[in-house]
Amino acid sequence: MNLIVVYDLLYMCVHFFVCLGPDIDNSGYVSDFELHELFREASFHLPGYQVREIIETFIAGDTNKDEKISFEEFIYQELKSKKFSETFRKSITRRDGIRSFGGLSRISSEGTQHSYADEEKVAFVRWINKALAKDTDCQHLLPMNPDNDSLFTSVRDGILLCKMINISQPDTIDERVINTKKLTTFTMRDNLVLALNSASSIGCTVVNIDAQDLMAGKPHLVLGMFWQIIKVGLLADIKISKNEGLINLLLHGEELDHLMSLSPEELLLRWVNYHLRNAGTETIDNFSDDIKDSRAYFHLLNQIAIHQEYSFRRVHIDMSGLSERNLERRAELMLQQAAKLECRQFVSPLDVTSGNSKLNLAFVANMFNMHPGLQHAGHINGIDVAQIEESKEEKTFRNWINSLGVSPHVNYLYRDLCDGLVILQLYEKVNVAVDWRRVNHPPYPILGKNMKKLENCNYAVRLGREVAHFSLVGIGGENINEGSQMHTLALVWQLMRRYTVMVLSDLGDGERLGDQIILNWVNTTLSQKRKDTQISGFKDQLISTSLPVFDLIDIIAPGSVRWEMVRKGDKKRMSDEDKHNNAKYAVSLARKIGARVYALPDDLVEVNPKMVMTLFACLMGHGMKKANH
Ligand SMILES: *[C@@H]1O[C@H](CO)[C@@H](O)[C@H](O)[C@H]1NC(C)=O
Ligand SMILES: *[C@@H]1O[C@H](CO)[C@@H](O)[C@H](O)[C@H]1NC(C)=O
Ligand SMILES: *[C@@H]1O[C@H](CO)[C@@H](O)[C@H](O)[C@H]1NC(C)=O
Ligand SMILES: *[C@@H]1O[C@H](CO)[C@@H](O)[C@H](O)[C@H]1NC(C)=O
Repeated sequence: MNLIVVYDLLYMCVHFFVCLGPDIDNSGYVSDFELHELFREASFHLPGYQVREIIETFIAGDTNKDEKISFEEFIYQELKSKKFSETFRKSITRRDGIRSFGGLSRISSEGTQHSYADEEKVAFVRWINKALAKDTDCQHLLPMNPDNDSLFTSVRDGILLCKMINISQPDTIDERVINTKKLTTFTMRDNLVLALNSASSIGCTVVNIDAQDLMAGKPHLVLGMFWQIIKVGLLADIKISKNEGLINLLLHGEELDHLMSLSPEELLLRWVNYHLRNAGTETIDNFSDDIKDSRAYFHLLNQIAIHQEYSFRRVHIDMSGLSERNLERRAELMLQQAAKLECRQFVSPLDVTSGNSKLNLAFVANMFNMHPGLQHAGHINGIDVAQIEESKEEKTFRNWINSLGVSPHVNYLYRDLCDGLVILQLYEKVNVAVDWRRVNHPPYPILGKNMKKLENCNYAVRLGREVAHFSLVGIGGENINEGSQMHTLALVWQLMRRYTVMVLSDLGDGERLGDQIILNWVNTTLSQKRKDTQISGFKDQLISTSLPVFDLIDIIAPGSVRWEMVRKGDKKRMSDEDKHNNAKYAVSLARKIGARVYALPDDLVEVNPKMVMTLFACLMGHGMKKANH
């Protein structure tokens, strides 16, 4: 067996696992839908028919005839298919800076070789060093040396991850909950658990990774975590509700709805092209091949600088680098100009010339955040930006969905669920078997494209009604397909509810768990320990004080609540400020003791019964798990 081929294949698998969060449904198997996705995301430039061909070959050779391909089979098939391995090799050798190291992983207990990209490590270290430079809790770790393994050793105590999460999505973690002093293995582990549960609450995919992996500093997992967290922060403001100026990116005759449905990555591309058009130069299609020559970047920087005209410090962009013949030297000259605008971040000249799309996306996103260079869109009439804002519920659902590692990533609930595929993946997460042979996969034919999507939605609704026994009165596949808000939310909520109580059913005797059972558990647990915070239901106003939550946490994990932090006062008349203070602390504490809570502090303060139920259910699951041990 040719060793190079083996290495390539391993690299490829790891690449799939690590960078793309593959084995999308986390089943240990690759379904053909996943393969489609993998090829697409890995940018292997294979036309659709070739992908189908490969999949068919795989399925024909599916050794145990279960119509699913396990990774072992996948690799085995790979080795036999020489032509295919060549394709991969070509795409792999284009990449440089790959480091390998030995080690065990969950992917294969036989000791798999992992690879990670050195340039990512360098970029993230520099970014973290800068972001946390002034944070007094990180002084024992910073600045990290980008040239050695200090990122992987520094991640151990969990502080860096918690802090970066808090920067990406402010207020996600109540900093009082982070252990910063006299750290022991246990308190470091608590921090990592807090980081993982908080990361999932902001939509990072944390399947297949636990505190142990991070404590061991496994490079591919550490880099994967940081990239997800950094990306959430970089892309957070690239939406119209956060920056009205984006309305300028409407193309002639385009509806706002369409612009709103674009992903942050697509909007960024639009943004770059908007400036390139203003500069009268060619537009780009991607952040890989098309930016390698630095041309687009020079013009983009120049446009941004022109927009700065009226600010008191004018920056002049020197465009002479455009005539430099050596692309790497040209990229360096370009980055020197970027530095004048304080946005030399994430990429080295080599990352530009090699067209590293991940790091170039980060470079551009950061540039957008610092200098959007867009005028206020006051001249566009009839647009109510408040209407565009995502509701808290939509955001929580979206984060929950993304944290499960569905593909593609969901940016906009109603658009991204309308072909049924994400919903069908969610069914698998809640133990409802999906017959993927009945599902239509992209690329859809141009003619009858919507019909294919509608069929998926019909199937999704039927599964909900017939197998999951959801209440879907008056909901049809067409409602999901049209992106009807009310109907989509109703279905997604029932999926999330089932997901939340599933862990309870696993622990209990399998009965279907009603709210009443959770409520009884809350009351019984509280009264057994002589707490006086029983609740009459998930709408009980006492919940707005978070006091029942603290009491439960105190029972499940004695000693974890620092009562001096909790505002008690008059239960019946607590101020809003005290309620918010408590809710923030309570949600972070729950995550720190291991409960994967998606609810937000506001859900407690406003006593949002759905999210309150999920929080108590998580605590119950956690409490029962501990009791069973
Ligand atoms: C990395 O280099 C720094 C010096 O710049 C050193 O203090 C640190 O111990 C090194 N870390 C590792 C993990 O090698
Ligand atoms: C975490 O978030 C809170 C609220 O936004 C803020 O007070 C705190 O300083 C943040 N910490 C960091 C490291 O940004
Ligand atoms: C980027 O876009 C150009 C066309 O502008 C295309 O030739 C190239 O293949 C694309 N690269 C990738 C990686 O998609
Ligand atoms: C829980 O306790 C409250 C207060 O004692 C009581 O009003 C309520 O009926 C109880 N609910 C359940 C489900 O036991």
